[in-house]
Amino acid sequence: MKIIAGNWKMNGTRFDLDKMLSDLSSISTNNRIILCVPYTMLCGGNGSVSIGAQDISTHTHGAFTGEVSAQMVADTGAKYVIVGHSECRQYHGDTNDTVRQKAALAISNGLTPIICVGETMAEKQAGKTMSIIESGVRESIPSDVKSDIIVAYEPRWAIGAGLTPTADEIASAHTLIANTLADMGLAGTPVLYGASVKGSNALEIMSIPNVDGVLVGGASLKSDDFIPIITSVK
Ligand code: PGA
Repeated sequence: MKIIAGNWKMNGTRFDLDKMLSDLSSISTNNRIILCVPYTMLCGGNGSVSIGAQDISTHTHGAFTGEVSAQMVADTGAKYVIVGHSECRQYHGDTNDTVRQKAALAISNGLTPIICVGETMAEKQAGKTMSIIESGVRESIPSDVKSDIIVAYEPRWAIGAGLTPTADEIASAHTLIANTLADMGLAGTPVLYGASVKGSNALEIMSIPNVDGVLVGGASLKSDDFIPIITSVK
């Protein structure tokens, strides 16, 4: 069983989500399917697909125009939320500190956070990939986690770029994350790989040790692209 999570980013309408849910209900899979959609489409999902948001506020409520709290996301029936996505780190100034606050609020409101970590191109070129990943994991996860969380390794330079790291690079990153999680008392936490996952590379990526699933951006928008990823693994 793998976890296949889609991230629709700022794309789609409620009509598109209804169509995707209907298309996905016809496939047979043991994998856990999650769709992280814009706030306007949040809902309870259906028997085969769970719904998540793509970000939440670091605040619980109050005068924060435009922000949406963990409690509000949970109130829609959604079960997951991505925190620390590379685009939120890049465009909204998210840091490991704010990501940890968001993850804690997600957990306390009954949501499962999908906590993203990964290196930029500059960090990769400076030879800092492993240290950025390890500090991302240690600093973005709240200290007293007892409920389910998911971690996603997303090499920031590869997202949306059609680039993927080599299988060896993915294996090293995921081994480091699994070892770090074990050291933090969180052995067994699922770790997803994300960046330029498609039907043609999904099986190879999900066959790498310590890769428990994928977080898919562009290829999760259309069922013709998303279903082959879901059905590539048992
Ligand atoms: P991509 O995006 O699959 O389009 O590279 C991945 C992500 O941002 O989660």
